[in-house]
Amino acid sequence: MGLYPPSKQMQVIESINEMQDVAAKWRSRRRGKIIALVPTMGHLHEGHLSLVKLAKKKADTVVLSLFVNPTQFGINEDFNKYPSNHKRDLELCEEHGVDIVFAPAANNIYPPDYSTFINEEKLSAGLCGVSRPVLFRGVCTIIIKLLNILRPDILCLGRKDAQQAAVVNKMIRDLHIPVGVLIGPTIRDKSGLAVSSRNIYLNEIQKRDAAIIYQALSKARNMVKEGVKNVDRIKAEVSHILSSVRRIRIIYVDIVDKDTMEQLREIVPRRSLIAAAVWCDEVRLIDNIVV
Ligand code: PAF
Repeated sequence: MGLYPPSKQMQVIESINEMQDVAAKWRSRRRGKIIALVPTMGHLHEGHLSLVKLAKKKADTVVLSLFVNPTQFGINEDFNKYPSNHKRDLELCEEHGVDIVFAPAANNIYPPDYSTFINEEKLSAGLCGVSRPVLFRGVCTIIIKLLNILRPDILCLGRKDAQQAAVVNKMIRDLHIPVGVLIGPTIRDKSGLAVSSRNIYLNEIQKRDAAIIYQALSKARNMVKEGVKNVDRIKAEVSHILSSVRRIRIIYVDIVDKDTMEQLREIVPRRSLIAAAVWCDEVRLIDNIVV
């Protein structure tokens, strides 16, 4: 255990100390080899696996973390019912060539006397930060912890959680953390619905209706292609399309700079993130495109 490069057989590590020891040994023996971390909350899907594929192209060793992070869930959110399938996750990791699965226990990551949190205060404020005020504080805290435990060269995140990626990127810059961030594209099913762990909560009818989100974003993309620059017009059109489906309730439709999360007045080509969050009945879904 702890050899670099790791043996062909995937390792599953639960202990933080062991993970730190293994990672420290790699670093000392690696001679320029690259380590990538794919952080997940488990219940792996095509989106996560596409990140693993991306990580494998860029790195010699891929670590995937499985940890449902309690601090990023608000009190009325779905922490207690967050989908999990540990056995299948491990099988998928093995199939996809993950070298190490790091699956720490919650009470080791957050012992009872735990009291340190990381708050990014600007990019976190809008979009999902409005209705999920503890989300990014929890995400930043767990990401810092994982980076400290593993000290990877590359951190892989998905574009579907565009605000999360922007906030984490900002935190990494603000805190001078020596890690590169790789953002993988949003993976969609045939209907265009962005793949997400929470899609498991949707029945077939809800899934069909949720496909309206990408249709609305696609209409926005077409408007931009046709030369519309006024963000209010585009937001109004996206909201109008979303409202045509009875079970969809809009949480927000917004257009911001993809890196700074600042509101845009006009479309800035290739920098404009059109983001939407909706309830599909009682399931919260988000999606976005960059135009
Ligand atoms: O995107 C997620 O699944 C989570 O927010 C992350 C990045 C694994 C942190 O818990």
